[in-house]
Amino acid sequence: MKTRSIFPLVLLCSLALAFALLDGCATRQMSCGGSCCSVCALPKAPELTSLPPILPAPASQDEKMAWFREAKYGLFIHWGLYCQPAGEWKGQPVAGVGEWIMNRAQIPVTEYEGLAKTFNPLQFDAEAWVQMAQDAGMKYIVITSKHHEGFAMYHSTVSPYNVYDATPFHRDPIRELAQACAKHGIKFGFYYSQSQDWHEPGGMGNTWDFGPDGAKDKNGAYDKYLREKAEPQVAELLQNYGPVCLMWFDTARVMNVNNRGQRFVDLVHKYQPACLIDGRLGVKGDYASTGDNVIPSEGEQGDWEVPATVNHTWGFRKDDTDWKAPSDILFKLVDVASKGGNYLLNVGPTSAGVVPAECQSNLLTVGRWLKVNGEAVYGAGRSPFGDEFGDFSTKLKDANGKPVYLEFTDWRCTTKPGKLYFTVFKMPHGGFQLPDFKNEIKKAYLLSDPEQADLAITTTNDVRQVVIPREKQNSMANTIVVEIAGDQIER
Ligand code: GLC
Repeated sequence: MKTRSIFPLVLLCSLALAFALLDGCATRQMSCGGSCCSVCALPKAPELTSLPPILPAPASQDEKMAWFREAKYGLFIHWGLYCQPAGEWKGQPVAGVGEWIMNRAQIPVTEYEGLAKTFNPLQFDAEAWVQMAQDAGMKYIVITSKHHEGFAMYHSTVSPYNVYDATPFHRDPIRELAQACAKHGIKFGFYYSQSQDWHEPGGMGNTWDFGPDGAKDKNGAYDKYLREKAEPQVAELLQNYGPVCLMWFDTARVMNVNNRGQRFVDLVHKYQPACLIDGRLGVKGDYASTGDNVIPSEGEQGDWEVPATVNHTWGFRKDDTDWKAPSDILFKLVDVASKGGNYLLNVGPTSAGVVPAECQSNLLTVGRWLKVNGEAVYGAGRSPFGDEFGDFSTKLKDANGKPVYLEFTDWRCTTKPGKLYFTVFKMPHGGFQLPDFKNEIKKAYLLSDPEQADLAITTTNDVRQVVIPREKQNSMANTIVVEIAGDQIER
């Protein structure tokens, strides 16, 4: 009796184990309800708990922007079906950024949809992603909820073409991330491609299946798409995922007619009055977005953000491992902060659900520097100088005969009341020469020095120089804090 009753159980367990080993535990949701995770060591889907309430309307624009001005550094995540082909279609590399593969290879909707059937990122672990962002020193996360491919990476009731309904994964990663962000106190926002949608006959951009965009605009198909998919999906995102720190719209196409852009603004204001709108909606948002990877050559007024890649693509490409070095990332972050902006740096996770290890390690190196020197970045203001950014060459001319602008990368300056932070990337042998200003210096020390020991300042011919003992220098960058009399720089 005993052996007969146990036999089917043993058989079932062995089968589950065999399947788990064979297919990376893809059967775990159905066959063993998560219990085989101890066998295959895949992260378990977290228990879903409630999300924090939506934030009330801020009293002023300054109050609305306060967290953004403090944050300075965010993580962008491009994740969608495109991470599976990863830059290659039918054995051939497809040029360009990974998330544009459907467009670049003119893949018909019916064929591209097939990617959903195999999307099963079982190594996805929202907690690990958010922990990584936190350890990297990033203060907000913006993820693609729907990119131009038209596939919703969350459980949408507006369209079944979404990660929960159309894939074997059958989970809502955005819900899991919202929860992990709430737990870690990291702000969470959504990229949403409002205009381009290559899956829909009325969306912009898919001319190979649905003909020219101009016709869709004129014959009502585009407005139908906006009304029946884009707007309801944005409303879903604003209602179902707790506080949304910002909506990142992109590639505005014919948005400023028929009130199209304004309708998105109205939705954001209606559901989440504290949520910011980026600069690519097509009508005015709360801050300006620069071009991809474009860092202005000088300080810019107002609120703005630079979206940037860690390699040369947004969505994962298996052939792009040309990662920005930690020193490069750090320079760009401090450069942007010293010009008054935010740096939103992207990662493209794989189809397994992981951020490539080398890329993670680079981000974490920057994070370790920020842990010690973050005071010079978070909530810091623009440089009062400007000469450090660069100058026009006296010799080199461009194709139009104009002098070439040469960027200087030796140091950057950020500020807080009564303090100047000089982050020095190339330490001169004799010491760091301070730019010319009249204010009395009260104290100078290294931000990395817990003792804040005074650094010697020498003056030769009215030029002040800060000397930093070699043994105290960090190889990536050193921040000298100069405390001055008065809040304004006098030159
Ligand atoms: C560009 C790309 C798009 C990407 C975006 C991020 O607009 O076309 O794929 O999402 O930049 O800034």
